[in-house]
Formats: sequence, C-alpha cells, structure tokens
Amino acid sequence: MTAERHGTGASPERVAVYPGSFDPITNGHVDIIARGARLFDRIIVAVLVNSDKRPLFSIEERVESAREVFGAEPKVEVDAFDGLLIDFARQRKASVIVRGLRAVSDFEYEFQMALMNRRLAPDIETVFMMPAEAYTYISSRLVREVFALGGAVQGLVPPEVEARMRRKFARE
Ligand code: PNS
Repeated sequence: MTAERHGTGASPERVAVYPGSFDPITNGHVDIIARGARLFDRIIVAVLVNSDKRPLFSIEERVESAREVFGAEPKVEVDAFDGLLIDFARQRKASVIVRGLRAVSDFEYEFQMALMNRRLAPDIETVFMMPAEAYTYISSRLVREVFALGGAVQGLVPPEVEARMRRKFARE
C-alpha cells in the first residue's frame, strides 16, 4: 500500500519511533527494539532529554549508551528529543510510535499516552509490543535501585551498560 493510499502523506519507508527515558537502557528495551527492527524499515530510539525524574545518566550518556549497543545495526538509530513526542515523530517522518507492554500494570499509563498522542496526531499510530517473558519484570528504576544497593544487574542490562554503571558508581 502506498503512503498516499493509507493517507499519512508520510514517506513510503515505514519509520517507527521508540521513545523513553532509557535511564539506563535495559535488556527489555533491547528486546523491543530488536522486534521493532524486524517490523519496520527503521526504528528511531528517541531518548527524552527533559524527564521529570532526575536521571542517573545525562542525556549524552543515555544516547551514547544506546548507540554503543546498536552501533552495528543499520535499521536502528538513536537520537535525543525534547518537547512533544509527536512533533519529534513528525520531524523524523515516523508514522508509528512503539511502546513495550510488560504487564497489565503498564496498561493504564500507556493507554492514556496512546490516546493523548492520537488526539494530538491522528495520523500517528501507537503499536504495543511485548518483550520476551524473561524481561517482563525488568525496569530501569529497579535496575538503578538494585545496582545502587550493591546487587548484580548482569543479564538485566547489556554488558556495555553494566560497565558504564560500574564506572558511574566507581565499582570496578
Ligand atoms: O520511559 P518512559 O519514561 O516511560 O517514557 C515516557 C515518554 C518519554 C514516552 C513520555 O514521557 C513522552 O513521550 N514524553 C514527551 C512529552 C510528550 O509528548 N508528552 C505527551 C505524551 S502523551
């Protein structure tokens, strides 16, 4: 189907954005990005600059970290964004927003965001994807907490990210 026929006016290349705080990027995020890369021509990992939360990693560190993980993958791009997600999606000619759903508890917040984004940009569709079961309990918040209290995060985040966390907490 051409872009004209489904009425988006977007490029025929199917571009998705995968937004988040990624503080830090976890294996659950990596799993969703890999699934997205199979469905779309390109997936842009969009790292939120100004989060309400005080991030552990700076925006530069979060972007660099995701690029380290996906450096060799031509379909994956990593960029920072500020302001409304739908504005960023439009700038980058993306017609899809990808979000991961781990459990029913994620649903309410995700549903609100998806409907608000649809109201703001009816031409951009939100697509929910489920990570592998092994990652359904992982969140960036828990990874930060466990690591800060001395617990192991091996297997929860990519090795590059674990190394970065060790450097941050000076725990070599
Ligand atoms: O990983 P997170 O923190 O759950 O990601 C939340 C994110 C970045 C997707 C959301 O906060 C967002 O899109 N922020 C950008 C501002 C915006 O567009 N707000 C309206 C969304 S309904």
